[in-house]
Amino acid sequence: MTATLSSAPGAAPVPAPEPQARPSQAGVGRGSYWITTFGCQMNKADSERMAGILEAMGYRAGTDEHSADLVLYNTCTIRDNAEQKVYSYLGRQARRKRANPHLTLVVAGCVAQQEGESLLRRVPELDLVMGPQHANRLDTLLAQVEQGQQVVATGEHHILEDITTARRDSQVCAWVNVIYGCNERCTYCVVPSVRGREQSRLPEAIKLEMEGLAARGFREITLLGQNIDAYGRDLPGITPEGRRQHTLTDLLHHVHDVEGIERIRFATSHPRYFTERLIDACADLPKVCEHFHIPFQSGDDAVLKAMARGYTVDRYRRIIERIRERIPDAAISADVIVAFPGESDAQYRRTLDLIEEIGFDQVNTAAYSPRPNTPAATWPDQLSEEVKVERLRELNALVEKKARERSARYAGRVEQILVEGTNPKDPNQVMGRTRTNRLTFFPGQRPDGTAIQPGELMNVRIEEVRAFSLSGTLA
Ligand code: SAH
Ligand code: SF4
Ligand code: F3S
Repeated sequence: MTATLSSAPGAAPVPAPEPQARPSQAGVGRGSYWITTFGCQMNKADSERMAGILEAMGYRAGTDEHSADLVLYNTCTIRDNAEQKVYSYLGRQARRKRANPHLTLVVAGCVAQQEGESLLRRVPELDLVMGPQHANRLDTLLAQVEQGQQVVATGEHHILEDITTARRDSQVCAWVNVIYGCNERCTYCVVPSVRGREQSRLPEAIKLEMEGLAARGFREITLLGQNIDAYGRDLPGITPEGRRQHTLTDLLHHVHDVEGIERIRFATSHPRYFTERLIDACADLPKVCEHFHIPFQSGDDAVLKAMARGYTVDRYRRIIERIRERIPDAAISADVIVAFPGESDAQYRRTLDLIEEIGFDQVNTAAYSPRPNTPAATWPDQLSEEVKVERLRELNALVEKKARERSARYAGRVEQILVEGTNPKDPNQVMGRTRTNRLTFFPGQRPDGTAIQPGELMNVRIEEVRAFSLSGTLA
């Protein structure tokens, strides 16, 4: 029997392969759910929305992955090790499903999109395979599952505005998607093929969501997009001055005054599209935090070109200089890849030099991993595992050294911390972040003995600095 892969729009039910035909679950009482999330903030945001949908359907949050009635893996395929992880998780659940056919097994996210129907062949116990564009349709898809179908939803899909309230992990900080997908074609990256074309949400919808979050007590919003600088380029409208009407800068102005929201962040920025107007807006708008996440990927122009990133090291440098002119204390973080195909030792050293020169507060590092349907994966000049491991090790040591140097500037300073919760390693402490995004720990009681609550803004004198976190006491 051949199952047909769904095409736009939405999902096509796939007939269940014979030996795995399952009992219809229509009418069965809904029990507990468990979601494990891999990957980036977009996936975390999607998981929170899917959890909201499940709860609206009558599922309740379970406490154990191995006894939940519905298990959902929201997967990531950015590197091979991320993809492999989910298969080992699925093996255990598939065994459980064979003993308990009423278990509902869902694979969502980027591996689901990449593998589609072939995931069903690999793990026939699956009930639902759904790409990221379908996250807001989980209820509709599960309704098909409940009728006894195996469902694959990987067609290109116009993302629906959220109708359900997301179940957020934090009570204080929330993610708000502003643009889905990515139209870039970085030669190493799987994201455009799994997340689809760019789709910007309307500013009104974004503001409405933020107002709702503020009313529920959230204090910090991170606006999300894989290439957030592309926000609005798929929306119509030109200003009288001949500019695009919808840009990230305009969006920041539009949402800035939502009452109750104290801090606004955004990620991820792309050096190719990052504008001076945006830097000015960040400097002028008091709620926009002094933290910029701007991946540079490589410190060598030829490698950047092979990656099809569309900027030079010099352009990157000028962006950082401009940010530091306008916002001297700004924290800068980035992503970088080493051992890209053909990267010479000298080219790799230029990446180290740039890290040395800029002085990043934090850098996410990775060794290049060939991905399906990406040009660089087919290039002959792949580097060996040994080179990858060695470069990554040296790079990480430098990143930590520079982060430590950057942390030193906080010693003795008073920083405003937005409290997020209790320090999981010390119940007497609370934790939160500086505006520049450094994690900070401090005692959880005021001098009068009352407990400090999540959502409070506290002034903390920093007494201890570490590479990636700080500790202090109330100022
Ligand atoms: N949209 C963002 C980041 C997307 S993915 C950007 O444009 O920078 C997050 C990070 O994963 C990337 O910044 C990159 O550093 C890393 N990454 C992506 N594909 C990779 C691959 N094939 N191998 C190793 N790292 C990769
Ligand atoms: Fe991937 Fe490049 Fe898009 Fe970032 S901008 S998600 S690295 S294709
Ligand atoms: Fe991973 Fe998909 Fe995000 S591949 S990094 S979860 S966009």
